[in-house]
Amino acid sequence: VSLRVNPDVDALTHAKITTGKSENKFGIDIAAAPAVARHAAQLPGIRLVGLAVHIGSQLTDVAPYAAAFGRLAALVQELRRDGIAIERLDLGGGLGIRYHREEPLALADYAAAVRHATEGLGIRLAFEPGRFLVAEAGALVARVLYVKEGTNRRFVVIDAAMNDLLRPALYDAWHEIVPVKAPPPGAKPIPVDIVGPICETGDSFAAARPLTPVAADDLVALLQAGAYGAAMSSTYNSRPLIPEVLVRGEEFEVIRPRQTYAAMLDQDRIPQWLREGEDARGKP
Ligand SMILES: Cc1ncc(COP(=O)(O)O)c(C=O)c1O
Repeated sequence: VSLRVNPDVDALTHAKITTGKSENKFGIDIAAAPAVARHAAQLPGIRLVGLAVHIGSQLTDVAPYAAAFGRLAALVQELRRDGIAIERLDLGGGLGIRYHREEPLALADYAAAVRHATEGLGIRLAFEPGRFLVAEAGALVARVLYVKEGTNRRFVVIDAAMNDLLRPALYDAWHEIVPVKAPPPGAKPIPVDIVGPICETGDSFAAARPLTPVAADDLVALLQAGAYGAAMSSTYNSRPLIPEVLVRGEEFEVIRPRQTYAAMLDQDRIPQWLREGEDARGKP
């Protein structure tokens, strides 16, 4: 086993995706880790071979990584002095991308922080980047249902909703939204609220966002939706999960078909005490 350690480092990212501070639920407090490791190393059937950290997601600053990796390396040395042979370190993920104006950290700086902390330890390293690998590979394409002129806002209501892409509702996250068809030359962007069609004010993708004029049936794309998009989606409001399409150059293929209402409802079971007189198939 490896022990996930909480190094008590502020990842300087959104509070809801900060995972390496002592007040976060993750990992074993770094101060308690030596005692836990010594205990684990004595247990029959357990071989403690590694330590792991993951301090948060969407990091754009290398300093928290350097601090966390340094603390982890010191712990490796402490445990080795105690005769516990730590052979591998899992340094987690968290590399941020540019959604809007963020300045992602340079991979060379990340590599330098890793090297600085681990050089000479003679240890195997593992990494768990997620968002960095896939976010930019995904777009959520939605159709404009209608444009509603509010008293003091213009709402572009699209057929995608917070259940399809939760990040804006969950973390006020910013996704670039562009018309799929290039706008006519000279079209001027005007500020609109781009919202989904479901029953929450939080079902909103952007507020006062400059967008060239769109009308019902136009397609828009929400970019950088490849990470924490489909994986976080749900069937809230009885909305079937949307299809996923893999594109390569001119080729495309549906790799996950749209969920059917029948498949969604087939997950439900009616308890015996509501089914008096029915056959007992266990299905609605
Ligand atoms: C333990 C662990 N490793 C890696 C990741 C991937 O993080 P990211 O997508 O920020 O690289 C996560 C995300 O929650 C995680 O919890």
